[in-house]
Amino acid sequence: MTRTFSGVKPTGHLTLGNYLGAVRRWAETDQHRSDALFGIVDLHALTVEHDPARVRRLSRQAATLLLAAGLDPELCTVFVQSHVDEHARLSYLLECTATDGEMRRMIQYKEKGARARAVGESVRLSLLTYPVLMAADILAYATDEVPVGDDQAQHVELTRDLAMRFNQRYGHVFTVPKATHPQVAARVMDLQDPTSKMGKSTDGGAGIVYLLDDPDVVRRKIMRAVTDSGQDVVHDRESRPGVSNLLEILAACEGGNPEGLAGAYESYGALKKDTAEAVVELLRPLRERHAELAADPAYVDDVLRAGAARARGLARPLVDRAYRAIGLLPVC
Ligand code: TYM
Repeated sequence: MTRTFSGVKPTGHLTLGNYLGAVRRWAETDQHRSDALFGIVDLHALTVEHDPARVRRLSRQAATLLLAAGLDPELCTVFVQSHVDEHARLSYLLECTATDGEMRRMIQYKEKGARARAVGESVRLSLLTYPVLMAADILAYATDEVPVGDDQAQHVELTRDLAMRFNQRYGHVFTVPKATHPQVAARVMDLQDPTSKMGKSTDGGAGIVYLLDDPDVVRRKIMRAVTDSGQDVVHDRESRPGVSNLLEILAACEGGNPEGLAGAYESYGALKKDTAEAVVELLRPLRERHAELAADPAYVDDVLRAGAARARGLARPLVDRAYRAIGLLPVC
């Protein structure tokens, strides 16, 4: 059976981008057709300035939201990355496989590093090595498929390179995974700045739809989305990024394709109104289920405990094999 691994990092409240780009497919498709593991990858949240209590809170909230979005612990494994030591253990071996040049070429490192330096913050070493930890997350489970949004494509490419390099030098240990992306909404853009990704760690919030926003807040954010000059509704990401983003969101909510939907609209206002209602309806069941689950933290704890136990059982033997292959003496 195909093995799937993916994750979210608890650096902010989950957004419509996380849902359309990744989480919805995990629930609707991946957990049914593969042996799927989904991690709340909290170690990754420590790569930038962080508040310990907030990371803990967001980790729990992310776990609750994944369950509310339809991940079923009977069908898949949901766990917290830091509960499984193998991620950090394997990450070190992969640091000894990757080069610093490869790390410095990663777009997210360049962007986030530049942003931190611009406001006078130092850049944590872990921000540079982040993609190696992500590779460890994936490779520790002999993963075949990694369902992610477009922004993670470069990291999964690196993971493939590291797996192949390790296998070539030390013998076959790792499965070489591949990324899968949704057909529409693989990169949902910020409603106020449609040339940037809608990101949960971005400051502000007017351009970001959070999964737990009140319906009226969702409506307001979408009605106030920046659109482009010109009046006609066309799908062209280059010349009409704002309108194209709305068309993609609408297409992702309702099915169909953004180009086809464009023909049905004569004004930006009508497009915004329909998009707002479609998003509100899409998120309604998720919000309701989240409220129920948030009232039952013991259930969420049970799911995470069982998830970590299963994940450990899978990762341990594989990571042990990698330790032996690379030349480390087994425990005597
Ligand atoms: P993170 O937490 O930023 O995002 C979680 C998932 O949501 C997708 N996503 C988007 N998709 C479409 N449009 C957007 N605006 C948007 N924003 C986020 C991301 O592509 C991702 O699939 N490095 C990862 C977390 C990670 C991981 C892993 C993922 C760590 N280890 C191993 C897969 C496998 C990240 O920062 O995701």
